[in-house]
Amino acid sequence: MLARVRSASLVGVEAVPVGVEVDVSPGLPCFDIVGLPGAAVRESRDRVRAAVRNAGLPFPLQRVTVNLAPAGLKKEGALFDLPIALALLAAAGVIPAAALEGRLVAGELSLDGAVRPVRGIVAVALLARAEGAALVLPEANLEEGEVVEGLTLEPVATLSGAVELVRGRREASGQRRARPGPGARNGGEEADLAEVAGQAAGKRALEIAAAGGHSLLLIGPPGAGKTMLARRLPSLLPPLDREEALTVTRIHSVAGMLPPGTGLLTARPFRAPHHSISLAGLLGGGAGACPGELSLAHGGVLFLDEFTEFPPHVREALRQPLEEGKLVLCRAAVRVTLPARALLVLACNPCPCGYAGDDRVACGCRPDEVARYRRRFSGPLLDRIDLAVRLNRLSAAELMEAGKGEGSALVRDRVERARARQASRLAGEEGRTNACLRPEELRRWVTLAPATRRLLERAVDHYRLSARGYYRTLRVARTIADLAGEEGVRPEHAAEALEYRVERVMGRW
Ligand SMILES: Nc1ncnc2c1ncn2[C@@H]1O[C@H](COP(=O)(O)OP(=O)(O)O)[C@@H](O)[C@H]1O
Ligand SMILES: [Mg+2]
Ligand SMILES: [Zn+2]
Repeated sequence: MLARVRSASLVGVEAVPVGVEVDVSPGLPCFDIVGLPGAAVRESRDRVRAAVRNAGLPFPLQRVTVNLAPAGLKKEGALFDLPIALALLAAAGVIPAAALEGRLVAGELSLDGAVRPVRGIVAVALLARAEGAALVLPEANLEEGEVVEGLTLEPVATLSGAVELVRGRREASGQRRARPGPGARNGGEEADLAEVAGQAAGKRALEIAAAGGHSLLLIGPPGAGKTMLARRLPSLLPPLDREEALTVTRIHSVAGMLPPGTGLLTARPFRAPHHSISLAGLLGGGAGACPGELSLAHGGVLFLDEFTEFPPHVREALRQPLEEGKLVLCRAAVRVTLPARALLVLACNPCPCGYAGDDRVACGCRPDEVARYRRRFSGPLLDRIDLAVRLNRLSAAELMEAGKGEGSALVRDRVERARARQASRLAGEEGRTNACLRPEELRRWVTLAPATRRLLERAVDHYRLSARGYYRTLRVARTIADLAGEEGVRPEHAAEALEYRVERVMGRW
């Protein structure tokens, strides 16, 4: 007998439909899975067999063939265990095959018959809703499923529970309505800018970066507060709207980064991968094109500490995705697009020992060591930086001032107003900020009075700014004017933007 049930496979951050068909026919007992199963799916056989038996259900002693369709798609993950088990029981006549209609099933089984959480439930729930199916899912994934509104969720904790459910013996207790709207900002205690003492220039650069979506370089000795500042950038960004929150949650769900019981993520992500990370870890990979750090930072901040230690090919690989806000992976014959719009923050020491330019500790590096180190500053990524700031370590007396400055909420208010001005200019282009203004847009929206123009011309000569560096200065100046609530870019806005030019900050010590 043949039975089938709907399930799904993850490709990037999408769930695509997969039909699970099980045929039970007379013959020597065997259990095969066909239809391009990945390693985890092949192991499904052992889990399904043990789970069915340990749930006290009969396992057919006949030829069992599982087919996963479409055959051309490689199936990854353990989420096929539960649909395979249910279709198998239906094909063996233990449960009515008709009960599987109208349902989409996902869940991993443990050997004792418990249903374990799987990754990617947000994407799977979106697919179930699009197909008009109810979703049978692991109980531990319920909050995740509830992020998607307007579908019926049927959580199960055990295989026996799932059998009871489809036999109709159990009230579908999980037919809870999904909760509307984002909840409280999760992610725990968000670090606040008020905890940072002094560092006025660093804080100002952070505010401009948040307001215009500009990439930022923090350069200074160890202990200057580079990491501390970078960690506080998410708290200066406007809250995620519902659509963004859903995308962020979906990405983290697919990557298996949502702890059980987590619903909609409403805090902006902060990702700080170590420089030893692999290219796949950063960009994503595997047969299912699972998102990497760059996509996990989508909607938030990607912080590359000690960025000079990242291998050149890794820096090079980040460049285009960061520019485009998305990244394309080629997997076999399929091109998978992953979201990757993140604010880039780089940090590094000014020299190998870290103390070049420090006013209290002498730099112990030889000039050739410093020169070799500085060469790593050029090239990919650094040429994409809009704002650079040099930070110095604070004295003990200055550190005592921590907690007395402006808090994140106040700064975020100004950032939101500056973003509203940008949005009215870039009407209809979701998520774009000044940082991605094209040259023709700059000509239209950055009108320069003669004095401002003269100032910029002098700076281009003096710092030998490239055309790209010049455009970056204009974008930053536009954001500074937006923070000031002004339509025109005034000389002081341009002058401040020039303060943050990489060429200038790098040439300063
Ligand atoms: N401006 C500051 N205000 C308050 N504490 C600071 C400041 N700068 C540094 N610190 C303290 O020093 C520690 C190290 O700072 P950190 O941000 O890790 O420095 P860096 O990343 O530049 O090496 C922080 O955890 C914090 O306790
Ligand atoms: Mg640090
Ligand atoms: Zn040094």
